[in-house]
Amino acid sequence: MEKIIIEGGARLIGDIAISGSKNSALPIFASTILSQSPNTFHNVPNLRDIATIQKVLANLGIRVTRKKKGVARIDSSGLSGHEAPYDLVKTMRASILVLGPLISRRGKAVVSLPGGCAIGARPVNLHLRGLEALGAKIELKHGYIYAKANGLKGGHIYLDVPTVTGTENLMMAAALAQGKTVIENAAQEPEVEELAVVLNKMGAKISGGGTSLLEIDGVDELGGTEHTIMPDRIEAGTLMVAAGLTQGNLRLMNCPLSSLDAVVNKLQEAGLEIQSDGETVTVVGNNRIRSVDVKTLPYPGFPTDMQAQIMVFMCLARGLSVISETVFENRFIHVSELRRMGADIKVESNSAIVSGVKQLSGAQVMATDLRASASLVLAGLAAEGITEVARVYHLDRGYDQLEKKLVRVGAQIKRIKT
Ligand code: EPZ
Repeated sequence: MEKIIIEGGARLIGDIAISGSKNSALPIFASTILSQSPNTFHNVPNLRDIATIQKVLANLGIRVTRKKKGVARIDSSGLSGHEAPYDLVKTMRASILVLGPLISRRGKAVVSLPGGCAIGARPVNLHLRGLEALGAKIELKHGYIYAKANGLKGGHIYLDVPTVTGTENLMMAAALAQGKTVIENAAQEPEVEELAVVLNKMGAKISGGGTSLLEIDGVDELGGTEHTIMPDRIEAGTLMVAAGLTQGNLRLMNCPLSSLDAVVNKLQEAGLEIQSDGETVTVVGNNRIRSVDVKTLPYPGFPTDMQAQIMVFMCLARGLSVISETVFENRFIHVSELRRMGADIKVESNSAIVSGVKQLSGAQVMATDLRASASLVLAGLAAEGITEVARVYHLDRGYDQLEKKLVRVGAQIKRIKT
């Protein structure tokens, strides 16, 4: 087991390059199941979740070659399997993303049902209902999804909730379906849009990527392509808050500013200076953090994956802020750990009322999920004294060497084995 130890108070100054996007790379890797020819991807982040999806693909007979840093060559000509086992799916819910491509390419799939999650029940009913609308026969038994289809047929799908991986699964399934599919109330996240771009580069006919209305004309087969994965907007947002919490001055290279409007607007409202010269984004913090209210929403609203991080920022703001979580029903687990560091937060149903305090104090805290762990590292950077963050394996799922990047800009942070 490992822990991260942080001595707070250092101002962060310098350059940080943003890594490739986890939530973009995962569906793109799953989409290679649909390809008849090899694909090559660049700017692939070095993350535990990427290692997991590679194992899921290898388990299906797909060859993933990682010769150069950040480059993955994925050859699915050896695709032979149709199962994603519990042992892999339990470590990463996003493994569900192989379901749609497997039904579409192999006509069958056996995928473990993702279990519960710290941040919410997270059912996949909309994925399954959408696949049934394309003609799949779905049965749930022994904790697995058993799906069969004798060739999917285009259909009309209305999503009750603009589910991100649900939209991605159905878009991939429809790419090889016979005829036209329309997905209404689709997720508009930049990662969904990038998946549509990659599928179209493979030969798919998808329009409306990144909008709430997707139209997909099925094709007989998809080829291979070469693509550079976009930078991770949540990593960039997390580092912007780090600059704000430490009165820092960070230059973020390869920062996807165009997909961060809601985040940048809120951080500027709170007093952070954020400027771009087209190449890099400069973020300058000061010690007059203003309190702002935040409501998480599907894109282009404020991302739920930045909720815990902006909550830490508001812990040191002047005044009261209300943070409402509308996407997941149980995403305030980090609150009790932040309270251990002296934060003043009251939770009432899906809102957290944060009263700004002068200072946080270092403490031993425990990470419970990916973004909660990032918020505890941020709190440690701002706190007086030493913070120890346990269960950092959560952090490694979605942040590419975060503490090494922070050390390079002056943070007093290290990782130790326990
Ligand atoms: C994606 O999860 C992201 N994961 C999550 O990032 C992110 O928090 C989430 O979208 C919301 O932005 C990946 O892209 C791999 P949803 P996903 O389906 O697709 C309900 C991170 O930190 N719902 O859009 O699983 C669901 O319960 C992770 O990087 C149904 O009811 O999220 C939730 O309340 C965490 N039925 C809401 O929709 C369904 O069939 C949104 O979930 C599907 C979803």
